[in-house]
Amino acid sequence: MYQFTVNGNHCQTDKDMRLLDYLRKELLLTGTKDGCSSGACGTCTVIIDGKNTKACMLRTSKLEGKSVITIEGLTEREKSIYVYAFGEAGAVQCGFCTPGMVCSAKCLIASNPNPTHEDVKKAINGNICRCTGYIKIEEAILLAARMFRENLPVPAISNTAGVGEHFHRVDTGEKVLGTGQYVDDIVVPGMIYAKALRTKYPRARVNRISIEKAMAHPDCVAILTAEDVPFNKTGHIKKDWDVLIAQGDITRYIGDSIVLAAARHWETLDEVLGMVEVDYTVLEPLTSPLQSLSEGVPALHPGGNLLAHEKIDRGNAEEAIAGSAFSVTNHYSTPMTDHAFMEPECAIAIPDGPDKLLLYTASQSVFDEQREIAAMLKVPNENIRSQSKLVGGGFGGKEDMSVQHHAALMAWKTGMPVKVKFSRQESIDIHVKRHAMDIDITTACDKDGNLTATKAVIVSDCGAYASLGGPVLQRACTHIGGPYHFDNFEVDGYCVYTNNVPGGAFRGFGVTQSCFAQETNINLLAEKIGMDPWEFRYRNGIRPGEYLPNGQMASEETAFIECLEAVREAYDSSPYAGLAGCMKNSGIGVGLPDIGRCRLVVIDGTVHIRTSAADIGQGIGTVATQILCETAGITADKTFLERPDTLLTPNCGTTTASRQTLFCGEATRIAACRLSEAMQTKTLEQLDKEEFYGEYSGVTDPMNSPKLHPVSHIAYGYGAQVVIMDKDKRVINVVAAHDVGQVINPKSCEGQIEGGVLMGLGYGLCENFIMEDGYVRSKYGTLGLLRSLQAPPIEVKLIEKTMKKGLAYGAKGIGEISSVAAAPAAAFAAYHVDGVVRTRLPIENTAYRK
Ligand code: FES
Ligand code: FES
Repeated sequence: MYQFTVNGNHCQTDKDMRLLDYLRKELLLTGTKDGCSSGACGTCTVIIDGKNTKACMLRTSKLEGKSVITIEGLTEREKSIYVYAFGEAGAVQCGFCTPGMVCSAKCLIASNPNPTHEDVKKAINGNICRCTGYIKIEEAILLAARMFRENLPVPAISNTAGVGEHFHRVDTGEKVLGTGQYVDDIVVPGMIYAKALRTKYPRARVNRISIEKAMAHPDCVAILTAEDVPFNKTGHIKKDWDVLIAQGDITRYIGDSIVLAAARHWETLDEVLGMVEVDYTVLEPLTSPLQSLSEGVPALHPGGNLLAHEKIDRGNAEEAIAGSAFSVTNHYSTPMTDHAFMEPECAIAIPDGPDKLLLYTASQSVFDEQREIAAMLKVPNENIRSQSKLVGGGFGGKEDMSVQHHAALMAWKTGMPVKVKFSRQESIDIHVKRHAMDIDITTACDKDGNLTATKAVIVSDCGAYASLGGPVLQRACTHIGGPYHFDNFEVDGYCVYTNNVPGGAFRGFGVTQSCFAQETNINLLAEKIGMDPWEFRYRNGIRPGEYLPNGQMASEETAFIECLEAVREAYDSSPYAGLAGCMKNSGIGVGLPDIGRCRLVVIDGTVHIRTSAADIGQGIGTVATQILCETAGITADKTFLERPDTLLTPNCGTTTASRQTLFCGEATRIAACRLSEAMQTKTLEQLDKEEFYGEYSGVTDPMNSPKLHPVSHIAYGYGAQVVIMDKDKRVINVVAAHDVGQVINPKSCEGQIEGGVLMGLGYGLCENFIMEDGYVRSKYGTLGLLRSLQAPPIEVKLIEKTMKKGLAYGAKGIGEISSVAAAPAAAFAAYHVDGVVRTRLPIENTAYRK
């Protein structure tokens, strides 16, 4: 029997188990999170005898006589100070890292009440945050330390929440204290656990599957094969992804599922799966687009190995390049990247009446899940109700089915509640990645430095399944001209199936890749003609009324030039500074349906906000609250944000394409205008049960529209970033200026940019998802995620050209663009140190990678 205390309470157990499991599963203290189970992420941080410790690395047998404090064990004063400090600093995004951060902060402050900024960085260096860029977390901890040190009272949190106000996020408390529910925190009575057996080989024929022995395991509830799936394909756009690989079929990547097993206890699942026998014929995988497109290779899908071809041709690029005074041609390669959101995928499916299911999930759209699962089960959409719990980060990686469809299938077949949860390694092996791309690009200008043309060929590694490979390729193509004004533009793009992990949506959506290529070319071109790269961009940068390379006219609020002006001093301040510009669409655009919806319902004097817009950490719930308060003239204490639920919240589309601030924001504004009108004659109490609906549809022109100047997207954000290195090629400062339209919440907006910049720097400097011959070689600890001690200062400059005018008060999305320009800016900074042109990411021979 092992005896110890948890939060001051005596505990004893004869089970020798990981402390993390003991806390979460035996004591139901779910504020301690499981991000990796391998000691690498810090989400499970607790305090043992005064020292911050990773609960996943310690067993109960090693705890004899020790005192464990979890986030739930903080005193009331500690809780109120940390909630205030993290809210005030804007330090909370998805929140999955936050309780662990607070535990590390508590240890630091206990031993060092007056920590320096560097002390704080060291104290949280074992805690990874994928969302924030650490800056605001460090500020929050310094503020908390001061409040404890000076015994300050905790100020009341302001309820004034107009547009542009500094307002604490609505979900701060539940995320800081770990009381908010992520799916894995939920236990449903009678729940069983399911997991898929994955293929041993990236490409192999499955000759025979024997489940008899596994079925005989005393804890086994069911084992499902492809024959049990009503419709065995899923897919966000193209239904090409097998739910389970059927006997006789060929696997396409190392994450393919062969059978789905369920057990009564999570501990026995691997044992059950280990008893499933599969006979394979191993086949040679196709591991590069080049190989997949060569003659005589097998087709990985019935339609062949080319998923998508994109062609954009405006003016005559070839002729313009031939007639230009200068040109630069290069080949660029960018790698796959893992989203590494802190919360691994988890879903629970619960039978909910005849032929009906209720799902608890954490995705980027409950309606996408509903549609895909209904199609798989061949039932009407209404039979599937999907409810979102807190989402511990997404960054594009939670748009596809990963665990949801398997949980649904097992619940459907067994009639029991089912949880499916990925381990961190499953998450890394299975979910989609940022597409690796190869880009050949020529950029040309005349003798005075005026851009004349770009011609490019982009080859994208689709991996095994389509996911969003087509649209990602399309955005890479449409944006490769960059935020510049020129007329001759020719791009050919190819997205090619391989036996690698599928590519999918990832913050930047193809533009991170094409921006690296074009911005590097621009720097080299400027150098070739002897012009300062800032001057070159200033000369060619898009201005209101001018036309982008894709033909769309830049609207009057376009502020790329202002972004350039805002970073000029930083660029000129160091010989080792690198500069890059960027642009990114807000909204899906290109003629596709793109609708934001919001319903406001008055209940007992409080306005409930109902929208399915997924808050994956970016803070759309707080944005909607502020837009409602601004429009209806009410305070935040009169509002309540409901979570996405296909039964209750109207479909606001996917959280993707930096669209929710604009689309959900405008829908909320319209609904709030109607509420405001009603409030002219009635109080909120008198409006009880009344509903106010808002809908905004963004109308755009399709790709290759015959119009001379099509409107491809409702809005574009622009930005310019400067990365400054020291002589060791270590980043010592970043200045990021972004054209954000109207800021809704300044701290949230800055936080998005800081987090995006750090993610962009990681992409440029050190992140690498490694595959060899179709096998994943990366672990969580080797993905190359930047930690607090490596994170540089980031100075954010918000360029607000539209003040409370236009759609959603003139706000533009900032989610993706913030992560786009840092990689080329870092590559250019390194070039200024050592004169080596980098054409591959992550760049080599720096302080981060030799
Ligand atoms: S869950 Fe323990 S360090 Fe990641
Ligand atoms: S807020 Fe830190 S991981 Fe999301």
